[in-house]
Amino acid sequence: MGRKTEITNLLANLPRLGAGLSYRRPFRDELLQRQSEVDFIEIIGDFYLDAPPEKLDELALLMEHFTVIPHFTTLSLGSAEGLEERHLEKIYLLLKRIAAPWWSEHIGYTRAGGINLGHPSPLPFTKEAVETMARNIITARRAIATPLILENVCSPLIWPGAEMTEPAFIAQVLHHSGCGLLLDVTNIHANSTNHGASPAEFIEQLPLERVVQVHFSGAHESKGRLVDSRTQSVPESIWQLLDLAVSRAPVRCICLERDDNLPPLPEMLWEVERARALGRLYKRWN
Ligand SMILES: [Fe+2]
Repeated sequence: MGRKTEITNLLANLPRLGAGLSYRRPFRDELLQRQSEVDFIEIIGDFYLDAPPEKLDELALLMEHFTVIPHFTTLSLGSAEGLEERHLEKIYLLLKRIAAPWWSEHIGYTRAGGINLGHPSPLPFTKEAVETMARNIITARRAIATPLILENVCSPLIWPGAEMTEPAFIAQVLHHSGCGLLLDVTNIHANSTNHGASPAEFIEQLPLERVVQVHFSGAHESKGRLVDSRTQSVPESIWQLLDLAVSRAPVRCICLERDDNLPPLPEMLWEVERARALGRLYKRWN
């Protein structure tokens, strides 16, 4: 079996979860009462790595009621200085505790020269950056067998010296790392709009057979640029892009992200239901 077929088969065996949302503490109690309205929740895995007992109790409670998918932000797969073994060990233990079907990180870096930037930043679109990502992912895979999927990030700037376009860069990283894709349609919408390209064409240029999960969220304009702020309801332009992604890619789950300016939970659950209906329409789940 060729390597490409092997990866496609591995991804095809992942469960079809449906539609859910990123878990945030303020709506915990209401969410627990309406658990039948979400098919899974996504947690920020980093919050549970060095967690005090009450945080682990919270995780146990969430696991009793939901399928939990962990998303990470601080491993820094794009860092030239490599990964920290201890960090990988902690992720391994958390994934084991959750029995996660997959885990996700970003195509980017959060650490540079010993400084933690706090959020995933874009890499230069170069062969060297592809090699760095692939090298770090080999290290991660040695420590963690659970399938890893990679998320495309918001790129307010494009580093000078780009050797390829962003979709080509993402495709190269996936090809050389053997990972699945966490397709964030809002990030694509923001990057394309800000850099004068078509978001639909961006999506069409990606290896869509690698898509496992989709993120979507609202976006807002700030100083003439579109920002994936995760603080607004989802505009029609993002729904259209989500429709395109779900129609074309073998999506296993769709996750609504919302960080701040949280609306009443039913408003978010309505967006989750609309995403679930899209998955049904394209026969990604029943
Ligand atoms: Fe995202």
